[in-house]
Amino acid sequence: MSNVEEACLIAWRAELLRELSGEVLEIGAGTGANLRHYSAEVSRLVVTEPDSHMLPKLRERARLSKRADVEIMNSVSESLPFRDASFDAVVTTLVLCSVRDPEQSLREIHRVLRPGGALVYIEHVAAEDRADRFAWQKRIEPVWKHIAGNCHLTRRTADTIRAAGFEVQNEQRESLRKAMFFTRPSVRGIARKPAPAG
Ligand SMILES: C[S@@+](CC[C@H](N)C(=O)[O-])C[C@H]1O[C@@H](n2cnc3c(N)ncnc32)[C@H](O)[C@@H]1O
Repeated sequence: MSNVEEACLIAWRAELLRELSGEVLEIGAGTGANLRHYSAEVSRLVVTEPDSHMLPKLRERARLSKRADVEIMNSVSESLPFRDASFDAVVTTLVLCSVRDPEQSLREIHRVLRPGGALVYIEHVAAEDRADRFAWQKRIEPVWKHIAGNCHLTRRTADTIRAAGFEVQNEQRESLRKAMFFTRPSVRGIARKPAPAG
C-alpha cells in the first residue's frame, strides 16, 4: 500500500483530518496511518481497532506520535462502547469495506456523534460508473474477502452513509491511484449528523 499512500492517500488523509477539533473517534485505526494528521485542536482522540495483530504497531505509532494521550480500544464498529452524542467527529478510512455490518456500524457512528458532528471518510467502493470494472469486482470479491480481512469490493458506501441519516457536506469520487484496478474507485468526504432545527 505504500505506493498508494504516496500517490494519493497521505494527501487525502491530511486534507480531511487536519481540520478536525474537539473529541474525535477513529474506527478501525489499523496500524495508525492517520495519527500524524490530527492537529492540537483535537482535545481527545480515541481510536478503536479489533484486530489484535494490529494493536502492537498501533500502540507503537501512538507512542511515537506527538500526542501522548491517544486512547486505544479493542472494539468493533457494530457495538461502540460510548454514550450517545460523545464525539464531535468520527473518522473511518478504508474501514467500511471490511466491517461485518456497515448499516449497523453507521447507526452506531450516528448515535455516538453529537448533533452537527462530522463523519469523515475515505472508502473504496463499487465501480458504479464502469460496468466492466464492476463485473470484475463481483467476480473477484468472494476470494478477495477471504484473503483481505473481509474487504468487500462492491459496497455502495456513499449510499449507505446517506441512508443512515447523514447529510453529506462535501464528497469527492476519485481513483485511488496506484491501487489494484478493482480497489481503485473511492469516495471521500464529510457528512454531518443533522442538528435539530432552531
Ligand atoms: C484496510 S484496514 C484500514 C486501516 C486504517 N483505517 C487505514 O486507513 O489505514 C481496515 C481496518 O478495519 C478494521 N476493521 C475490520 N472490521 C472492523 C469492525 N467491525 N470494526 C472496526 N474495525 C474493523 C480492521 O481490523 C483494519 O484495521
